[in-house]
This record gives sequence, C-alpha cells and structure tokens, in this order.
Amino acid sequence: METIEQKRHLATTVPGPRSLELTARREAAVSAGVSSGLPAFIVRGSGAILVDVDGNHLVDLGSGIAVTSVGHAHPAVTEAIAEQAARFNHTCFMVTPYEQYVAVAEALNELTPGTHAKATALFNSGAEAVENAIKVARLATGRSAVAVFDHAYHGRTNLTMALTAKNMPYKDRFGPFAPEVYRAPMSYPLRDGLSGAEAAARAINHLETQVGAHNLAALLIEPIQGEGGFIVPAEGFLPALASWAEAHGIVFIADEIQTGFCRTGAWFACEHEGVVPDLITTAKGIAAGMPLAAVTGRRDLMNAVHPGGLGGTYGGNPVAAAAALAAIAVMRDEGLAERARAIGSTLERKLSMAASEMPAIAEVRGRGAMMAIELVRPGTLEPDPALAKAVVATCAEHGVIALSCGTYGNVLRLLPPLVIEQPLLEEGLDILLSALRIAAS
Ligand SMILES: Cc1ncc(COP(=O)(O)O)c(C=O)c1O
Repeated sequence: METIEQKRHLATTVPGPRSLELTARREAAVSAGVSSGLPAFIVRGSGAILVDVDGNHLVDLGSGIAVTSVGHAHPAVTEAIAEQAARFNHTCFMVTPYEQYVAVAEALNELTPGTHAKATALFNSGAEAVENAIKVARLATGRSAVAVFDHAYHGRTNLTMALTAKNMPYKDRFGPFAPEVYRAPMSYPLRDGLSGAEAAARAINHLETQVGAHNLAALLIEPIQGEGGFIVPAEGFLPALASWAEAHGIVFIADEIQTGFCRTGAWFACEHEGVVPDLITTAKGIAAGMPLAAVTGRRDLMNAVHPGGLGGTYGGNPVAAAAALAAIAVMRDEGLAERARAIGSTLERKLSMAASEMPAIAEVRGRGAMMAIELVRPGTLEPDPALAKAVVATCAEHGVIALSCGTYGNVLRLLPPLVIEQPLLEEGLDILLSALRIAAS
C-alpha cells in the first residue's frame, strides 16, 4: 500500500456524501445506543492521519481514545498481525497455550512499576481487566468492599458501571448495580484547592468512617483520571493513599488503561510519583488497536486464585498478543515515552498561551501526550459543556478529530498518537484553538 502523507486534506465537507450514505445504512442496522463523535467512515490510517470514505485526510488528536499510541497501521504491528494471523488465530489459552501470551505477560511483569515478583493474566477489554483485578483482590483478602473515586471511569459492564462515577450516558437506567462499591472524594486541585495530603486525609477519613478499612478489599484509582476530565490529583495524593492501603492490607489497584504505555511520558503514570501498585490494569495502548487487556501485579495476589478462576475464551488472543509485542517493541525502539514528553511540552506551551488570553480556559492540565483544558464561563468555575461541544464540532468540520470528556462534559482533551509529526500536531492544535477563540467570543 502506498504511504499516506502526514498532512490534513479536505476533499469534501466532513462528513462527506459517501459517509452520509453509510450513516443512513448504519441507522437502519446499528443500535442507536452506540454513537460516534464524528460520523466520517474511515477506510485507512497511517501515523496520525485517518482517511475517510470521501477522501478526506483527518488529523487524529484522539488516537481512538488513547489506543493507537504507535500510530495507525504501524508497519511493524501490521506485519506482526499478518504473520500471526497466517499461522493460527485462536486456540483458547485455557485449552492449549502458546508462547505469545507468555511473552506479553513477561513484558508486562518487567515494564510495570516495582521489582517484586509479579504475574499477569490477559483479557479482552479494559472493563474486563478491571473486573478481574477486583476478583483477585476480593479472593486474596477475603473482603468484599471496593473504594473508588468521584469522577472515576472504569468501564460499562455491570461491576464497572458501579465503579464508574458519571451517570449520563454510562449508567442511566441500567441499574441495579453491583453492591459493595464505595465512592470517596477525589483530589481535584482546580475545584477543591486542597494539597495532596489534605485531599488524601479527606478521602481516607471518608472511607474509614463510612466503610471501615478492614472491610476494604481494594482501592481502585486512575493515576490521572481519563473520562472524568483528565484530573491530575495534587502531588502526594496517590502516595498517601497507597501507603494507607498498604498499612491496612487493602489491595491498591492502579487503573492505567488510559494512562499506560508511554502516554504520559513514562511507561506508566504511577511512576511520576514513585507509586508501586499491588495490581495494575492495562488495555488501550497495549496492542495498538487489537483487543487486549491485562491485570499485572504481585505474584502472591495473582496466584492466590485457584486454577480456572481467571480466563475467558479470547483473553490473550494470539493475534492481539503478537500486536502487543510489536507495539511494545516500537515504543522502546522509537523512544515513545520521550516523544510523549516532547508532545506534552508543545501542548502545554500552546495551551497555556491560549489560557492567558482566553478566560474561558480555567486550567491547562495533564502530563505528556495526555493534556486537557477545562472550559468554564469566564470569571466563574461554572462548567461550559456547550463550548466544548462547539469546538469539537468545528474541529470535525475542519478535518481534526478532537475529543471532549469530564463529569460536566466541559473538558477538551488531547491524546494524539505519540508518533505525530510536529507540524501536524501544531496545525491540529491551532485549528482547535482558533475554533475555541471563535466559539468563546
Ligand atoms: C481508565 C479506564 N478504565 C477502564 C476503561 C474501560 O476500557 P474498555 O473500554 O476497553 O472496556 C477505560 C476506557 O475508556 C478507561 O479509560
């Protein structure tokens, strides 16, 4: 296949006529419960460019929600997938094993924080990994309660809906939800003004008085919250929670499904504060778009489970595992953690400059290639979700895929592929900021 130039190009309006035809077919065939932010039907991708069915070349600033960190259709990943697919596609690891599964487990045991003995189990989706981390923690501790946080997002299955904070669209009228899930206040520096130590003391006090530390199997937290609004807790919050959990035999689970695999400028976001989780859940960036997820952590916890207690038909599928091994090699060989830090510097510089002249930007926050701006009504902290929505829509019209998020829907987040070229990143960002300037005026 010929290479795709890393340039934005509009051949039609976005979405164009062929996408609109496909949208009509989609509406007749696909559940209305599954929606798309930008209904341009994609036919190809490369690096940070997605090509739609009308020939528009779109700049991807979202990576399919933090998945294609190595870029779309990275040749090394594509080759690994093709080669594995030609050998065999499935055995079910629970029926007959294969080396690729073991190699992914070895890589995760090595790459995740901490030098202690670890073990890994593989699954299909992030939600499934989170569910299994809770299963492990409950079995290993003999306790049932799970602590989660305001603004958390952990998935859409029944247990993970209970773990997720936001009602619309994730939970509304889908209950009843799984029991024994307790929500504590998160550190949200823009809105609570607390130091990390103060916010941790507040959360711990809440859990001790309303749940009881001895009842808690697990404390589950995203080191930087993703869907909840790219909320970076104040420094010291995560380490304080981790040491409190350790002191009370509570399994500290870091959900690094969105933050993992070089996204924040380190292999895992916990590393920025030296936190070593007992268990870590990963997915998204792990396999460049193939469905794969994992729970990795203390071997004593992971091996407390009886044989057959963990698994699933497709978990650790050989093609997905081959993709993960190739993606991890790309991250190492192409220095993607460093690239994420460089992207972060560009994002921070341009977004901070915009914030200094636009009172609608209450805060620029994030780490590495996971950065966001929170939008408010000028002079207040009142969220402005309509503004975020307008910017995303204008970006789409101009061929830039941008994402919003947040409990209040008022956060614009940037998650470009870590291989994005500097001019394309700057162009995408300039389009987003001029859309914001116009919408906010
Ligand atoms: C932090 C976090 N946990 C869990 C999930 C759920 O992952 P999946 O959509 O693969 O089930 C997500 C997805 O956005 C996530 O960001």
